[in-house]
Amino acid sequence: MSTCAPFNGFTLHSPKGESFKRLFSSNFISQIQVISNPCALLPLKSSSKPSKFTKERLLKPISASVSTIETPKISFRNKNPKDINVLVVGSTGYIGKFVVQELVQRGFNVIAVSRERSGIKGKNSKEETLKQLNGANVCFSDVTQLDSLEESVRNLGVPVDVVVSCLASRSGGVKDSWKIDYEATKYSLVAGRKFGAAHFVLLSAICVQKPLLEFQRAKLKFEAELMKEAELDDGITYSIVRPTAFFKSLGGQVELVKDGKPYVMFGDGKLCACKPISEQDLASFIADCVLNEDKINQVLPIGGPGKALTPLEQGEMLFRLVGKEPKFLKVPIEIMDFAIGVLDFLVKIFPSMEDVAEFGKIGRYYAAESMLVLDPETGKYSAEQTPSYGKDTLEEFFERVLREGMTGQELGEQTIF
Ligand SMILES: NC(=O)c1ccc[n+]([C@@H]2O[C@H](COP(=O)([O-])OP(=O)(O)OC[C@H]3O[C@@H](n4cnc5c(N)ncnc54)[C@H](OP(=O)(O)O)[C@@H]3O)[C@@H](O)[C@H]2O)c1
Repeated sequence: MSTCAPFNGFTLHSPKGESFKRLFSSNFISQIQVISNPCALLPLKSSSKPSKFTKERLLKPISASVSTIETPKISFRNKNPKDINVLVVGSTGYIGKFVVQELVQRGFNVIAVSRERSGIKGKNSKEETLKQLNGANVCFSDVTQLDSLEESVRNLGVPVDVVVSCLASRSGGVKDSWKIDYEATKYSLVAGRKFGAAHFVLLSAICVQKPLLEFQRAKLKFEAELMKEAELDDGITYSIVRPTAFFKSLGGQVELVKDGKPYVMFGDGKLCACKPISEQDLASFIADCVLNEDKINQVLPIGGPGKALTPLEQGEMLFRLVGKEPKFLKVPIEIMDFAIGVLDFLVKIFPSMEDVAEFGKIGRYYAAESMLVLDPETGKYSAEQTPSYGKDTLEEFFERVLREGMTGQELGEQTIF
């Protein structure tokens, strides 16, 4: 059951107390008071209905243009941050958690939407989620059910000014990508708009520039609908953030190299490059998008500080940090093409293998495509055109993983990204 409590000023839940695998990973409130009025918790519909949306062609347009809350016509940008209500969906993810923290730190009134069991494979209980999202008002709801989400937001009893979406499919599978990266993200726009939202910040991905994968197509479809909505209605604006690679996607070989294993890479290790960005830096950039007027109605590719790094350079950096002689295992990319060919053939006979084949394609994509701006004129990736932001470097990240391990940097359920 999904639950969400209204604000009486604030909504309040309180913690009771307080492979593929290695190859793929390498290349890539105030929860303060307990609710005193049990009537405040309204039961909402359960979430487990299978999605009727599978492929783009089956998707019905979801309308997002009506606001049912009378909001004063002053821009939220003129208000004090504490009076700006920011609804964050995907608040429990790798980036979402940091976005919530950053927004709380900047003094916004943050409403973090979460499932009752959050995190990879639902490992976090409600209490753990409340602790993790400390400083925000946590709203337990179901982003995959529009009725539930709307009822939850209605129960808050306050208007929404801005929606920030850090939603993403945890599995990266075909149906789940459409269900989350498109459908649930769209529901958060519809529900946000219904209750007054005037700005939508979307965490997308730089790789949608060259969409070959289902999750990229799902994200692009939402991006296009969001842009269209803003074009047709001046009551809504957007900032679409397209980051390069996250640290978690590049740390998979640190401990192996430390243990004396070779660094595994495809081809000569120069097939692709990225400008990795930390969770904290990206969260800060996303938080900037809430108020900064120069980020209104913009598509914003963004990388971390420093130069673009190829897998070869990342490997060299790692060996230097562990003080060992570089040792590389170079895997021909053609091996992946062969594996994908076999998987595509098998899917024709066993459609249930659809996701396995998709994971193969995701791995192939990250092995050879750069996470950099794709210059439309040359058709080539350009490090120069990829903006940098923040201060955390990959080298510092590697040093930390060497000292403290990969805790907090776990990959998604499929362990690819
Ligand atoms: N990995 C990279 O290098 C990279 C680079 C650039 C861009 N990106 C993009 O960045 C985005 C965010 O990535 P991330 O690593 O922060 O994602 P993540 O850790 O997998 O978090 C996904 C979020 O979506 C929520 N979610 C997923 N399925 C849900 C469902 N069925 N119902 C309700 N909530 C659901 C999760 O909630 P629960 O906690 O309840 O599961 C979680 O809050 C993705 O769009 C990704 O494509 C990634």
